[in-house]
Amino acid sequence: MGMIFDETYRPFFEKAHQEGLYDARCGLVNVSLDAVATRTGKRAEKYKTEAGDKISPFRSFTGNAPTADMLATDVDFVCVATPDDRHFSAAKEVLTAGKHLLVEKPSVLTLQEVDELLALARAKKCLAKVVYHKLLDPDHKKLRSLVYDDVLKHVNTGYCTLLEPKAISGSQFSEWITGRNPGTYVAVHYIKLIDFTFGGKLKTVTATGQRGLVGPQDGPTWDSCQMRMVYEYEDGREAAFDIHTSWVTPDNFPGYVEQEVQFRFDNGLWNGHSRKRGVECTVEEHTPFDMKISMNNHYNGSFVEPWGERSQRGYGIEVIERFVREVAYLEFGKTGDRDSRLQELTALHYNDLSADRQVVAAVQALEAILERHAAGEPDCVVRVNDAKGGLVLYRPGSEQADVLYSGTV
Ligand SMILES: NC(=O)c1ccc[n+]([C@@H]2O[C@H](COP(=O)([O-])OP(=O)(O)OC[C@H]3O[C@@H](n4cnc5c(N)ncnc54)[C@H](O)[C@@H]3O)[C@@H](O)[C@H]2O)c1
Repeated sequence: MGMIFDETYRPFFEKAHQEGLYDARCGLVNVSLDAVATRTGKRAEKYKTEAGDKISPFRSFTGNAPTADMLATDVDFVCVATPDDRHFSAAKEVLTAGKHLLVEKPSVLTLQEVDELLALARAKKCLAKVVYHKLLDPDHKKLRSLVYDDVLKHVNTGYCTLLEPKAISGSQFSEWITGRNPGTYVAVHYIKLIDFTFGGKLKTVTATGQRGLVGPQDGPTWDSCQMRMVYEYEDGREAAFDIHTSWVTPDNFPGYVEQEVQFRFDNGLWNGHSRKRGVECTVEEHTPFDMKISMNNHYNGSFVEPWGERSQRGYGIEVIERFVREVAYLEFGKTGDRDSRLQELTALHYNDLSADRQVVAAVQALEAILERHAAGEPDCVVRVNDAKGGLVLYRPGSEQADVLYSGTV
């Protein structure tokens, strides 16, 4: 029940509580937030008090095994929104209990974990889906549509940047970021965008980073990092993508985050800037502190609708709703049988865990390269599906190769 719960799950569940969810494929479905599992329960109790009748009365589990206790109730699906190195254990419990899973990005941190979760999902005939809301950003949908329709032809290079404010490393995530980097949980937005939009086979991952602000300059905690991925396409041609991330941007930055992309094609160029979509607003004593000067009204904006209703909407919430529609269709759909509907839903590459392999491979490679760097061996390279294994780390000047994952990525 952290930040992402408040920004996306909460508004979805509140709207569903009030209106239900209608889908022509299965009719009206009631969706209620039945239970939550957290470490201390404090935020759950605070939310319950503040929300009043905006939400159904939900049960709050804490203590030694809150997830297991929650799973013992009759919940139908579970959303995992813990810090990213705690996704796997919760996700495994969810699937083992035969409940549908929606896990925040990055799904998990290793391919071994993907294999385990997928085997469970298939055995239990459950959905195992990942939230990548940037795929639903209208600008990214347009980019993909132009690629899909072959208007933009063959990507050659790209760069993406996502810079988070110091508040993220200094307070929001300070409890868990020791030994971590900002790339794993935000570069992954763009790794997925690149992987999903352009297809191709991931070949190589390299990375570097900077230290000294969030932690000691020779320690394992990173202020910022830069990674490069090389992809190969069906015709044998390659493209390279650079992704820069940080969590040390000044808190008085005019937007919540800085997000920019550029992709160059054989016949075109795409430049996108999520913060500069056209609005700048200054309010004395508020901007850029408790309100930002440039705002992203597409992700998750609070509005007074023209018809008077207060709403919170955007692609960050839409992506949660899509998943719940999938669960509803699977369980209550009127066409085909459940097995055929399950097959149809697991083939959706934008969110199915089975389609997350190259993304997790890139994350696993990034983590391994930064770990070696912190241990005094910078500039390692990870190659994908080469003669030695699925994910193999090479050190400069060394014959030794570390197989991070032996199966095929
Ligand atoms: N889709 C997005 O764009 C987006 C944006 C932000 C965060 N996220 C993802 O959401 C996840 C959570 O991020 P956040 O920003 O909400 O973080 P947060 O630190 O605000 O919240 C994390 C919450 O998990 C709780 N928690 C920690 N360990 C737990 C455990 N073992 N069991 C139950 N609860 C536990 C914490 O108490 C906290 O309430 C991360 O994986 C992050 O990558 C996604």
